[in-house]
Amino acid sequence: MPTMHMKAMVFPRYGAPDVLTLRDVPRPEPHNDEVRIAVRATTVTAACGLMRRGDTAMARVVLGLFRPRRRFRILGIELCGVVDKVGKDVTRFRVGQRVFGFAGMHAGANAEFVCLRETASLAPAPDGLSDLESASLVDGPTTALYFLRRAKLAPGMRVAIIGASGSVGSAAVQVARHMGAHVTAVCSGNNAELVRGLGAQEVVDYTREDYAQRGVTYDVVFDTVGKSSHRVANHCLVKGGVYAVTVGGAGLVALDLWTRWFSRTRLLFGYSVEKNAALLEVNELTQHGALRPVIDRQYPLAELAEAHRYVEAGHKRGNVVITVAAG
Ligand SMILES: NC(=O)c1ccc[n+]([C@@H]2O[C@H](COP(=O)([O-])OP(=O)(O)OC[C@H]3O[C@@H](n4cnc5c(N)ncnc54)[C@H](OP(=O)(O)O)[C@@H]3O)[C@@H](O)[C@H]2O)c1
Repeated sequence: MPTMHMKAMVFPRYGAPDVLTLRDVPRPEPHNDEVRIAVRATTVTAACGLMRRGDTAMARVVLGLFRPRRRFRILGIELCGVVDKVGKDVTRFRVGQRVFGFAGMHAGANAEFVCLRETASLAPAPDGLSDLESASLVDGPTTALYFLRRAKLAPGMRVAIIGASGSVGSAAVQVARHMGAHVTAVCSGNNAELVRGLGAQEVVDYTREDYAQRGVTYDVVFDTVGKSSHRVANHCLVKGGVYAVTVGGAGLVALDLWTRWFSRTRLLFGYSVEKNAALLEVNELTQHGALRPVIDRQYPLAELAEAHRYVEAGHKRGNVVITVAAG
């Protein structure tokens, strides 16, 4: 059989957004336990930039020491599309089904087709939401659920969400409200209206005020952008309170363990990787109107480098989505 091809944005070496190039590459064939998805929408996240730059030694051990290994040369961790072919052992999905999901470090969604294991983080896409909207509701809400659950956020508790206007943050504001918490959003004044619209009861403009020095206490400080620290959060956390942070490394894993036993307040760090159950929950939250997408900009696949430049500036509001026309 002749090899079929597809369009994909490939990064043959680490570097600035210009390394991303549109190429014709072989269309992947699903293994027995995989589904092939015709991608309709994907995104650019902060993590995509890290991978493209080959940032952190740890990442390079997996992705490739001096240049990305061949199988990691297509970025894109969030997607929405239609199952176009299934392996012979697949039972969870059928051809023609609309799905949304998370490709993790395997990535590959910045292309017309991607193969994922049927047991990967994949679920039926939310009815009533467009492909772009569904793709934007993968990593943010599932990460918010992961951290806020681990922090044991409960009705009536007070939570401060740092980076409330970002992808994880904008989802966290909505999820925390849904969990019955009192939400203070920490963002710049430009985004105050946005986060209030998502349900935040209070807003702190980080360019004018220090959230930790307002004489207000919180049960949970959720730092979605890694701009604060456990030390700073200690000024405003109640005894037994939690500082949860999405950005860090091995040092924070050690601190996470240490503070479980030897500190007045807890530092919580981890990686939201297994998102299967959370995606089903996201689907339900959207159906109940408890979660809505926040889309800042939209680019076609061929303009992926431009999207990376925008995301890298660090000021996106919610999500940056990419349209992919499969065919
Ligand atoms: N551990 C995990 O499992 C996990 C999962 C997902 C993501 N992450 C990581 O989480 C981080 C956040 O991801 P994201 O996609 O949500 O980020 P993002 O959308 O790129 O964040 C951008 C937002 O951050 C705001 N911001 C910048 N500086 C701020 C500050 N000092 N205080 C408050 N807000 C500030 C910006 O608002 P202004 O324009 O107003 O400054 C902007 O709206 C990334 O590093 C990502 O790799 C980790």
